[in-house]
Amino acid sequence: MSHLIAPSVLAADFANLQRDVEMLNESQADYIHVDIMDGIFVPNISFGLPVCEAIYKHAKKPLDVHLMIEKPENYIQAFHDAGAATISVHYEASPHLHRTLQAIRDLGLRAGVAINPHTNVSLLENVIQNTDLVCMMSVNPGFGGQKFIEQTYAKVRQLKELIADQNASTLIEIDGGVNIDNAPKLLEAGADVLVAGNFVFKSENPIHTIQELKDVSY
Ligand code: DX5
Ligand code: ZN
Repeated sequence: MSHLIAPSVLAADFANLQRDVEMLNESQADYIHVDIMDGIFVPNISFGLPVCEAIYKHAKKPLDVHLMIEKPENYIQAFHDAGAATISVHYEASPHLHRTLQAIRDLGLRAGVAINPHTNVSLLENVIQNTDLVCMMSVNPGFGGQKFIEQTYAKVRQLKELIADQNASTLIEIDGGVNIDNAPKLLEAGADVLVAGNFVFKSENPIHTIQELKDVSY
């Protein structure tokens, strides 16, 4: 499988969201990454359900919803109704992670687990079979435009091994500070999906930048 690109609308122009979503529709993007922040789990507030619904209304690509919120299990149905195709909940916010992942799958969605930079990959050993996607944070969640944490490469390799050992088909998604310089190394380490916010939306030609990320060979 060739790798997938998931531009993050956190870096879009919110006053021109429809325009930016339509740009993504025309691009080589595979998913639209939607970052939900509650100001409690992370020290920032992004947007919530009505904005997710508005994105969905115009989107021709699946919504990859990343919940950076406390008690994510209380909002699974609502984000399903708001158009999510994948929902990722944070390991660190989920004392009953296994149950939450099942609830996501029961709604016919893909179940994701997001892990913070300090969270050891080995903690996923007992849920990897229930996980369609691991959203590995390569910055501390809460803000776009941060510097990529180099330790991520080693974590990707470790996770790739864990997935292979269990013969699972879980995708590895990298989220934070992704650009054209680290993309080849991430893909070589075993990443399947690259999220990119600022690198895409702050570039002169976002469609071309998405194409560049899609064309990375390794
Ligand atoms: C960070 C978010 C990311 C963010 C990525 O908390 O989860 O998805 O939008 O943005 P960049 O690519 O600018 O780091
Ligand atoms: Zn994200």
